[in-house]
Amino acid sequence: MNKPLHVRSRAAFGWLVAVIIGCDLPGAPNPADRPVPPQEVQDFALLFQRNCAGCHGVDGKLGPAPPLNDPLFLAIVPDAELLKVVRDGRRGTPMPGFAPSTGGPLTDEQAQIIAAGIKTHWPHPNPAAANVTTPPQYAVGAGNVERGRTVFAEACAECHGAKGEGGSQAGAIHDPALLSLLSDQALRRIIITGRPDLYMPDYAGVDGRADDFQPLTSAEIDDLVALLAEWRKEAAAQPTLAGTPDSV
Ligand code: HEC
Ligand code: HEC
Repeated sequence: MNKPLHVRSRAAFGWLVAVIIGCDLPGAPNPADRPVPPQEVQDFALLFQRNCAGCHGVDGKLGPAPPLNDPLFLAIVPDAELLKVVRDGRRGTPMPGFAPSTGGPLTDEQAQIIAAGIKTHWPHPNPAAANVTTPPQYAVGAGNVERGRTVFAEACAECHGAKGEGGSQAGAIHDPALLSLLSDQALRRIIITGRPDLYMPDYAGVDGRADDFQPLTSAEIDDLVALLAEWRKEAAAQPTLAGTPDSV
């Protein structure tokens, strides 16, 4: 016996809707739904989410590692440096290498997609453009520890405490455990860009600084890095359970 007409037409209507909105018929696999093998992923957002977001934050900021989605950082970091860090990592820091040569999971092409995507995905000014003051260059140079102490007192102490022990506005940075996780290059970069995501001002920012504060010069930033590197060394000098002062 035939089904009543209204049942048949409702079924036909269902098919029609499925065809119009582009649903696949049951049982017909859509090639686009096949899982893409990890080495074939070419989408920046997906590559970043899988490989980087855990440390650098979901949107490139507010993670435990320095933010990459930061206009000033993107304006000063050279393209070649981005690619090099992604491929080789930073020795002695938690930043791993991602290229096959360092045992990493990404192909060379994927490393290039990520390195290039970091600059195209997040907006940043072109420092060469008119009216943008050229910020200090990215690369670390030679600094002087004693001069670093003077600059620290003027530019950092109000928030981090006179000797970097921490204050009401920011935590301790005279802290070998913290400093041992950051390279000199990362320290220089943090002093230039600040941590806008955590309310630390950039090299020119006046918040939390004396009224006559002038933007930090490239040489002053090197001096600060030298001071922080000196504080970092104290970790090695501290007695450990394995080597008490008696045994040295
Ligand atoms: C207006 C306050 C303020 C000033 C001034 C300031 N900082 Fe910070 N800084 C912060 C805050 C807030 C953080 C986030 C972590 C915290 O709360 O301690 C921070 C974090 C840091 C970190 C750790 C960054 C990280 O990614 O873990 C370093 C290193 C640092 N500051 C160095 C400096 C140096 C060097 C100066 C002087 C040039 C300076 N800061 C000036 C507020 C400040
Ligand atoms: C296990 C945590 C971790 C993962 C995963 C990670 N990073 Fe990093 N990354 C770090 C740390 C920590 C630093 C700071 C290193 C230093 O002290 O120089 C860093 C530094 C960097 C820098 C240099 C930043 C600067 O200020 O000069 C870049 C660029 C970078 N990472 C990109 C990436 C990309 C892209 C990925 C994913 C493919 C990634 N990282 C995955 C922890 C990580």
